[in-house]
Amino acid sequence: MNKTLIVLGTQWGDEGKGKITHFLSDRADYVVRFQGGDNAGHTIRFQNKTHKLHLLPSGVFNPETKNILGNGMVINPKKFLEEIDSLKEEYHNNVFISDRAHVLFDYHRLLDGLNEEKLGAGKIGTTKRGIGPAYADKAARTGIRFADFIAPHFPKLFSKTLSEVSQRLASHGLEIDGAALMEEYLGVAERIKPFVIDSVGELNEALASGKKILFEGAQGTLLDIDFGTYPYVTSSNCSAGGAATGSGIAPNKISEVLGVVKAYGTRVGEGAFVTEIKDGIAECIREKGNEYGTSTGRPRRIGWFDGVAVSYSRMVSGLTGLAVTLLDVLSGLETVKICTAYELRGKIIHTIPASIRDFEDCKPLYEELPGWMEDISQAKSFSDLPANAQNYIERIEKITGVPVVMISVGPDQTQTIMRKNIF
Ligand code: IMP
Repeated sequence: MNKTLIVLGTQWGDEGKGKITHFLSDRADYVVRFQGGDNAGHTIRFQNKTHKLHLLPSGVFNPETKNILGNGMVINPKKFLEEIDSLKEEYHNNVFISDRAHVLFDYHRLLDGLNEEKLGAGKIGTTKRGIGPAYADKAARTGIRFADFIAPHFPKLFSKTLSEVSQRLASHGLEIDGAALMEEYLGVAERIKPFVIDSVGELNEALASGKKILFEGAQGTLLDIDFGTYPYVTSSNCSAGGAATGSGIAPNKISEVLGVVKAYGTRVGEGAFVTEIKDGIAECIREKGNEYGTSTGRPRRIGWFDGVAVSYSRMVSGLTGLAVTLLDVLSGLETVKICTAYELRGKIIHTIPASIRDFEDCKPLYEELPGWMEDISQAKSFSDLPANAQNYIERIEKITGVPVVMISVGPDQTQTIMRKNIF
């Protein structure tokens, strides 16, 4: 059986990765987040309770599983402690932060808001969690990593950073109280210290000794900084390559890549959305699927299943299986549509163009399939699904070229159809 598995989003995030990761996490010795920060919102429902996680990996509720916030992440330490404090104490001992991960400070959030304001109508629609500015500091080599955050030399390093940040903020007419920030963050660092480990060493040793590692992606391929619909993307690599660079496990040690995909499409924030539904069906799906952001509460835009986008995701992430989520939400529709190609100024294309102007001009070409009326939320196996729902899944497999190995028919862990054991 495979020792390593990446679970990632194949659309614009919010595919239901939290549920799928949590479902598989009791088979894993480690669950590792490898990119992003508290911009993510993973909803997990089990034992009749709903848990919303932003930073902590979705394996946190399994006492046997170690959960690592990997080196590729930008982590707001105050939010981390808030999230830890909101959990029962029994879950605190199995969460760790990589000493190579970057610290996201309050001023990153402030700068995120200011950048968005400056962009006006052209804004990205970020979660305003400071993700872009924190990764900008990392790339500019002006960031602070957790190894330095908890070290005795942190005050010296932070004073230098604060004087640069005050200059940046002064240009916006804003001031910061450096002394107060220093004191506050020294206190935070003290509390964070026990959570910080050499995750790269630990994960590689674990793998060498036969342990199983699950990599938990946040956001989705079309929000990837390289492969997404730039500039309407997040600032990290959400596709499979990010799991290697964001954890320190070499790419040739990762065997399976499970792409999580909604049975339809959603997007939050700005940017073109080729299969967006503009009529009443969108409202109906939004309400039934509770399509409101976990992090920000924003209503999500709704679209039909975009086979071009998911095929593109298969290509850049080497997907070996798909987990289709929220299939139950489509019950009750006369017909359902799958986008099989785009038309770009008279030309038929089967990929995501690099230029956002071209992407904005793409029109969807649909295949329309008969829907199903039955409630499928109690289906336990593929054969329990109505013929038209089975047909829909089989068309997804054919169009994307990836086998559907899991199907989710409701928010609870028990509402999961497993077609193939991949981990
Ligand atoms: P940022 O990651 O906050 O910088 O936001 C950049 C873009 O990614 C915006 O369009 C956000 O709406 C989107 N985004 C970030 N995190 C998520 C997520 O977890 N789900 C869906 N969209 C997200």
